[in-house]
Amino acid sequence: MARIKRTHQNNMLRLENVGERVSLVGWASKIRNLGGLIFIDLRDHYGITQIVAKPDNPCYQTMEQVRNEYVLSVDGVVLERESKNKNIPTGDIEVEVTSCTILSEAEQTPLIIADKTDALEDIRMKYRYLDLRRPVMQKNLMIRHQICKAARSYLDDMNFVEVETPIFGKSTPEGARDYVVPSRVHPGKFYALPQSPQIYKQLLMIAGMERYYQIARCFRDEDLRADRQMEFTQIDLEMSFVDEEDVFTLMEGMMKKIFKDVMNIDIKTPLPRLRFDDSMERYGNDKPDTRFGLELQNVTEIANQMDFSVFKDVIRQGGVVKCINVKGAEEKYSRKHIDQFAEEIKKFGAKGLAWFKYDGLSVSGGIQKFITPTILSLFKKKLNLEKGDLVLFVADKKDIVNASLSYLRNFFGKDLKLIDENQFNLLWIVDWPSFEWDEEEQRYVAAHHPFTMPKDEWKDKLLTDPAHCYSKCYDIVLNGYELGSGSIRIHEQKVQKDMFKAIGLTEEQAQEKFGFFLEAFKYGTPPHGGIAIGLDRLAMLLTHSSSIRDVIAFPKSANAICPMSEAPTEIDEYQLKELKIKFDKK
Ligand code: AMO
Ligand code: AMP
Repeated sequence: MARIKRTHQNNMLRLENVGERVSLVGWASKIRNLGGLIFIDLRDHYGITQIVAKPDNPCYQTMEQVRNEYVLSVDGVVLERESKNKNIPTGDIEVEVTSCTILSEAEQTPLIIADKTDALEDIRMKYRYLDLRRPVMQKNLMIRHQICKAARSYLDDMNFVEVETPIFGKSTPEGARDYVVPSRVHPGKFYALPQSPQIYKQLLMIAGMERYYQIARCFRDEDLRADRQMEFTQIDLEMSFVDEEDVFTLMEGMMKKIFKDVMNIDIKTPLPRLRFDDSMERYGNDKPDTRFGLELQNVTEIANQMDFSVFKDVIRQGGVVKCINVKGAEEKYSRKHIDQFAEEIKKFGAKGLAWFKYDGLSVSGGIQKFITPTILSLFKKKLNLEKGDLVLFVADKKDIVNASLSYLRNFFGKDLKLIDENQFNLLWIVDWPSFEWDEEEQRYVAAHHPFTMPKDEWKDKLLTDPAHCYSKCYDIVLNGYELGSGSIRIHEQKVQKDMFKAIGLTEEQAQEKFGFFLEAFKYGTPPHGGIAIGLDRLAMLLTHSSSIRDVIAFPKSANAICPMSEAPTEIDEYQLKELKIKFDKK
């Protein structure tokens, strides 16, 4: 085929180009045949140019054959449009076609190629290449690309070196299940796909690389959600000879650059910091959306003075009573709504939702009969009660109360439109506990991973007071999402030993799990630490998408399949034979 002529991309032509002869390529979208005139929106990756042919045009017949999504190559002359389209950059002009070649025909597409679509997600994923033709999806992938470009450029300026780490490896200590790959050469043995490059990046520090980064693919077998895929990408980095503050400064610089380059938004640094305990107390979770208030209030003390057995019993058993004061919501939510809220928070273990409304003078509804004038004045002071307030209480174990109220807080944030969707609130969650108590296993487990350095003042107390140890661990949060997570790592062998002991790992078990890793620490380990940012989540938030699937070219559906290729599929008998794998087909 002859070389395809193209003088401009479809977003380029303006009034200044009127009279020029141009050559364009693209897909036919929106074809209007007005009897005498054929208009076609010619779409490429960059934009849309309207092309037009009148009946006396020598290519009129060819243009008449064009259907949606045909691929065209056209020559023509730029004209000023009579009726201008202010919605597109090329809306002042159109191109009168002088020659039109159909490069490729198209059958009717199973979904409409336009930003607005009513196609179900399954159809979008089955025909992902068509879904990706939609301009909004092209834009999403571009923004993702720009984030990577900004990150790469920043990290390069900061002397970071991009190093690739293996995909076939051994289990890493992250919390999810591994995806495993059978070895043909070593029947019965398996590689594990990395949940993150954690071990390798630390080994690179021991190797003296000092500053590593990687736009790294990670694999985790966990239940998928809007912000979770089995296969996702991190902007992963690690640095030597640093403490927490160095990582904060570095990462704030990177966020600043990304927001500036991609969104033209100046974010203020240093970013706010919130201690983990305070975040749980005020927002009920470790990834607070700080674009709105509606904070949780601990009213255990006042509740204990009430004559309400539900509250009293909970407090006697060591539980807490917290509430949210939903300002001005008294009229919006009826008793029926409130019953529904109570039903919804059952999934967190809540046993009920106590409430009252305040009209400026007195309270009504719910637990009104337990609100004596004394109690009311205490609540007034504590909750800044005003006319129209609806106060909702949960009494239970701390975890249940926090999970329930944080869920309701986020619900009201959206339902009452308290959130400015154009705002981006980044913050650090710092001072994380080193351990969490695992009820099922009746032991402490590492809250982040077992290589996380305790705070200096807790280093010697891992074994004597694990319940109160805090670590040099940090999350970066954006608009209610955990965007990234990291820590300063343990580089001293004694501390590492104590750490394993504290989580109930014997020396043999530690050796078996991380032997090669621990071995490396014997030969001179620099103090080091790092962080990993979820690229998909960052792209999702910057594009205002509702799911990370919208910023991943070929994602898996919520039930972990690819509707397009139909993966996962069965494999041939001979492949199984080669791998020496047999299983019961039920
Ligand atoms: P962590 O496990 O917290 O830390 O992961 C870091 C960030 O990766 C993103 N993320 C995900 N995104 C999409 N789908 C998933 N299934 C998924 N899981 C995690 C999140 C998260 O904040 N090695 C450590 C980092 C370190 O300590 O340096 C790690 O992987 O945005
Ligand atoms: P009861 O005495 O069980 O009828 O409950 C009275 C009110 O207290 C109802 O509105 C319940 O939803 C609420 N309630 C019950 N248990 C709890 C709890 N643990 N926390 C908050 N409210 C509760």
